[in-house]
Amino acid sequence: MYKIAVIPGDGIGKEVMEATLHVLEALDIDFNYQFAEAGDEYAEKTGIALPQETIDIVKESQACLFGAAGETAADVIVKMRQELDLYVNLRPVKSYPGANSLFDNLDFVIVRENTEGLYIGREEYTEEGATALRVITRKASERICKFAFDYAKKTGRGKVTAVHKANVLKKTDGIFKETFYQIAQDYPDMELDDRYVDATAMFFITKPEMFDVIVTTNLFGDILSDEGAGLVGGLGLIPSANIGENQGLFEPVHGSAPRHAGKGTANPSAMILSAVLMLNYLEENEAARQVEQALVEVLSEGKKVTPDMGGKASTMEMAREVKEKLIQILA
Ligand code: NAI
Ligand code: MG
Repeated sequence: MYKIAVIPGDGIGKEVMEATLHVLEALDIDFNYQFAEAGDEYAEKTGIALPQETIDIVKESQACLFGAAGETAADVIVKMRQELDLYVNLRPVKSYPGANSLFDNLDFVIVRENTEGLYIGREEYTEEGATALRVITRKASERICKFAFDYAKKTGRGKVTAVHKANVLKKTDGIFKETFYQIAQDYPDMELDDRYVDATAMFFITKPEMFDVIVTTNLFGDILSDEGAGLVGGLGLIPSANIGENQGLFEPVHGSAPRHAGKGTANPSAMILSAVLMLNYLEENEAARQVEQALVEVLSEGKKVTPDMGGKASTMEMAREVKEKLIQILA
């Protein structure tokens, strides 16, 4: 029995969440869902976007499924990352059939440091303009590199690449790179290398198959993960995980997409794949593989898929099809 916090949020967040919970029903796993509120609609009613009660529910759960928030996204998701110290942002870059991927058979992951770097938001006006502070600590670099190596090992991946700009940012990225090679010593079987972020951005387009697990600092990870999303097709397909010492929060990369809300046209795949990441996190690896396979079958057939994938199915019709496939796989 897993205690799972469920925050549908706003707009299509609610629709893709309903679709995903419908798919998970087929699994022979007991989920004890704790529904919680956050986002624009909740803020309209109460004046706050993320109530303490929701934070508490997430803290008391083993994992959290999060749909999407609207305009309050920063107050909800950024605050949650801080409150729960979710220091890992994990984004798979994987090509799925029918997804307009620029390459076939792509499968790598980006592990982005989520708590420091340039995103601590310490900016200051100066006489000439403004400055921003970039904080890189040994502690945060150690734990993110360690996570990347452990993740590679656990998921059977063979290579970890550190991405940085240590030739220019000699001190900050110097520490990041040095820490990476220190941590690597505990993983003698793992292949490793390091690359500059600018070259990495190019290799994503020219030779993306060279990557397996990438570990990098906050801003570089943010930019590269969107580039990665661009490599493998639309927002309707891209999941993410935010992981800390005690919690994991799993969410699609897309937002509340107000233009799609209420129409049943949202693609549930990104949320379903976020649930797959959650199952992996809970070490329900077989179930994770089965749910992913069911989704891949539906995408490959291309019959019961949403309009963004060239189909005519609604969010729930697609989810019901995925559930049907999953039931067959489980039988
Ligand atoms: P968005 O991701 O909500 O939508 C951008 C476009 O991508 C949509 O118009 C749609 O064409 C497409 N799209 C996204 N998800 C889709 C899906 N599941 N199926 C089919 N098409 C899909 O980003 P946008 O429009 O920039 O932001 C809308 C709202 O969402 C804003 O209020 C923003 O603050 C919020 N947001 C929240 C996030 C979060 O909760 N983590 C992340 C990004 C945006
Ligand atoms: Mg981003």
